[in-house]
Amino acid sequence: MLISTRRKALLSGLAIASASIARLRAQAKSKSEMDRLLSLFDFEALAQKEISPAAWARVQGGSADELTLRWNHEAYEHIRLRPHALVDVSKLDTRVRLLGLELPFPILLSPTGFQSAVYPDGDLASARGAGAAQALLVISSSASKPVDEVVKTATAPVWFQLYVQRDRGFTKDLVQRAESAGCRAIAVTVDSPTFGARNREAAAQGELPPRPLPNLQGRDYLDPTLSWKDIDWLRSFSKIPILLKGILNPDDAEIAIKAGVSGIMVSNHGARNLDTVPATIDALPHIVEKVAGRIPLVVDGGVRRGTDVVKALALGATAVGIGRPYLYGLGIAGAEGVTRVVQILRKEFEMAMMLTGRPTLASIDRSLIWPKEW
Ligand code: FNR
Repeated sequence: MLISTRRKALLSGLAIASASIARLRAQAKSKSEMDRLLSLFDFEALAQKEISPAAWARVQGGSADELTLRWNHEAYEHIRLRPHALVDVSKLDTRVRLLGLELPFPILLSPTGFQSAVYPDGDLASARGAGAAQALLVISSSASKPVDEVVKTATAPVWFQLYVQRDRGFTKDLVQRAESAGCRAIAVTVDSPTFGARNREAAAQGELPPRPLPNLQGRDYLDPTLSWKDIDWLRSFSKIPILLKGILNPDDAEIAIKAGVSGIMVSNHGARNLDTVPATIDALPHIVEKVAGRIPLVVDGGVRRGTDVVKALALGATAVGIGRPYLYGLGIAGAEGVTRVVQILRKEFEMAMMLTGRPTLASIDRSLIWPKEW
């Protein structure tokens, strides 16, 4: 009896050891393969092989016919650059001030929920990876880990993305939890009275693991009654700056300024909500015109190359956000994958600054864009 119990323990111990060796081997393989990945598109191609088909559908999918999904990046491809030659670019200054923070470069990680579908301790690995790359991470309300745990793991500044809950008392409590955990701003998502027709994700739904929602404690996540008066309400008690994430219409940008928000994230939710809205980079100049420098603008959606970052800044963004690309890195190699994705994009951005003759962020202006009529 004793012997058989011991044997069982030994065998199960061996099974656990061999499973973890297999996992370590797989990770080592992914990491060595990672060294050969040169661009965010290389990460995309490998991630498709490395993560489960269901998680891939969740990450990669957009809504409906995925037209906006295609346009988000394609629009960058149609913008041409107008470089200056013979500028001393031996020293670059990529620092940017954003809502009281000084970031070493203008690229941040937009919020993405349910990261445990991509990598076991998803959000914690993202926080570690972002920290190693010195990038700001926006923690999602629908993160798979509690906000305070993610903040504790982070070594770079973090913001909190808020899905306002029907239960306003709970929402207030959530904002206060994020504040006291150390989040430096609240990005309220305002483009989601409901989610879009995410056909690709819906088809894979049954194969996804259970979805933990420790921050929302199993609540319904969206509130279709959300309106401008709730923004006033949030401002009335929040001790940290409030940004609105998901503004596309310039008229809304004007209302947002009147409502006293500290910043806007120009976003179409990575083309996951309303299909056939324009690419964010096409909406940006119209919002920039309305806002006229009064508050900072972050743009996300389809940013994949350093040249995309200079284009967004040239058109008036203060910084850009990326969503899917760091999830590719996360799925391939956890924290190190996230770090590598940011480093590649940052390096490409610096190359683009040098090659366009723009050594500072202030020198990246509209004149960097090749006029359409030329
Ligand atoms: C998102 N996005 C998102 N936005 C948000 O406000 N709260 C959230 O929880 C999520 N979750 C989420 C999950 C996944 C898998 C993706 C791909 C996206 C949208 C995200 O913040 C960002 O706006 C887009 O991802 C930017 O577009 P790209 O970089 O993915 O093209």
